[in-house]
Parts: sequence; C-alpha cells; structure tokens
Amino acid sequence: MRLPRPHLPTRRHVATPVGVDFGGSGIKGAPVDVQAGKFAADRVRIPTPQPSTPQRVAEVLVDLLAQLPDAEGPVGVTVPGVVRRGVVGSAANIDQSWIGTDADALFSRATGRTVRTVNDADAAGLAEVRFGAARGQSGLVIVTTLGTGIGSAFVHDGVLVPNSELGHLEVDGANAEARAANSAREREDLSWEEWAARLTRYYRTVEKLFSPDLIVVGGGVSKHSESFLPLVEIDTPIVPAKLRNKAGIIGAALYVS
Ligand code: BGC
Repeated sequence: MRLPRPHLPTRRHVATPVGVDFGGSGIKGAPVDVQAGKFAADRVRIPTPQPSTPQRVAEVLVDLLAQLPDAEGPVGVTVPGVVRRGVVGSAANIDQSWIGTDADALFSRATGRTVRTVNDADAAGLAEVRFGAARGQSGLVIVTTLGTGIGSAFVHDGVLVPNSELGHLEVDGANAEARAANSAREREDLSWEEWAARLTRYYRTVEKLFSPDLIVVGGGVSKHSESFLPLVEIDTPIVPAKLRNKAGIIGAALYVS
C-alpha cells in the first residue's frame, strides 16, 4: 500500500514577531502581521509597575508573553529613552536605573527569546512611515510624539536614523519638552491656542535646523489634532499620526523583523 505523500510547505514558516510598547501607565503587546501593518491577534495590557525598574519591567514582559502563547517570534520592545545596540542611554521620564542597562540582554535572558529594544518614538516613526501618515513620503520625515515628553524619529527615504531626541532641543532657552509636551499643556492648563503658540516655536526650530519634507504629530493627544494642529504656524506640511496607540507596538515588531 502506498502511503500518502507528506504535505510539504512551499514557504519556510516565519514566526510572527511580537511588538511591546512600554509606556508610563501600561505595558502593551501584540503579535504583528508586519506585511499588513496590523495586529495578528488581540492586544494584551499589563499595568506598568511602580517604580518601573528594568528588573520589574522584565518580569512584566515574561507575564505578557505568557498571555500570547501562539506568538513565538522575536520580540521588539520600546523604551522611552536613548537605546544604542540594546543599551539604554538616557532616562528623562523613567526610573534612573535604566541608564546603562543592557535591555536586550536583560529581556532576552528573562524571556528566553530574541528581544531587541528600540526608542519609543523611533518605533512610532517606523510604523507611521511604513503604514501610516507618512506612507509613500520620500525625503526626510520627522515623526514627533507629544506626551509626557516629546519623542522624535528621523526617517530619510524609509531609513531610520535612531535616537534623534528632538524633545531636548533648546527653544527660547528651555528644554523643549518642558514647555511644549502635552504634559506641559496639562500641568499649566494651557488653552489649545496657548499650547499651539509654544508648538509653533518648537516646530519652527525643528524646520529651521533640519528642513524636513513632512512632520507627523503622534502621541495620545493627536486624536484632538483638529483643535491645535491648524493653529501651528510653520511652512512644512504637518499632519496627525494615523496609527495612534498602535504605532509603538507595530513599530517595535517592525524593528525586530
Ligand atoms: C526621551 C525620549 C523619548 C520621549 C518620548 C523623552 O524625554 O528623552 O527618548 O522618546 O521622551 O517618550
């Protein structure tokens, strides 16, 4: 009797990568279809531990991956600080113990998986350029995120130049994010007009220094973009981000793919 021929896959199976977004209040992750720029399964969220030290975040990462048992691919993780070859170099709005931590090594050891760490705004930038508001844009795209701090991504013809850190530009003698981040708007109870005037000063500095072709504005507040973006008076086209709170997860997965 002849046995049926085994089914041979025509393509090598490539495990779906997981993107994880480490934010101030939640650590969120999902498997990502990096061809389509979409979550491949539902997102999982675990509250960020306080203080969010590297060790405690590594423990949360282990728990989070355990809730995504079908996602076996490599893991990309965002960190709100400078990241060079996996080592965190700054901690403006996170626990100081991150500075000097080899996050790639720590997370890979804790999870037994391949983990690569990327700056949060750089991840958002990759996602917006590939699938969001800057899709198809040539030249220099600068993606900024307005949140607790100001994050930035520099993407030239689709290639990321990491760790641009434009939130720390000096504008009017001050650290830009201290005056123009969304946290400054909330803290000082600024009207949209008042905040837009500060954003104008900030983005004018950015356009003078870097001559971008397009500026994308992300961060949670970008869902209210119609209240403040039309009031920002600069020469460069400036548009709201499209992927909203999915950008970090999708970008982290792109980074590790
Ligand atoms: C940090 C950046 C980060 C941004 C947004 C800034 O304070 O220096 O690395 O991308 O906040 O989280």
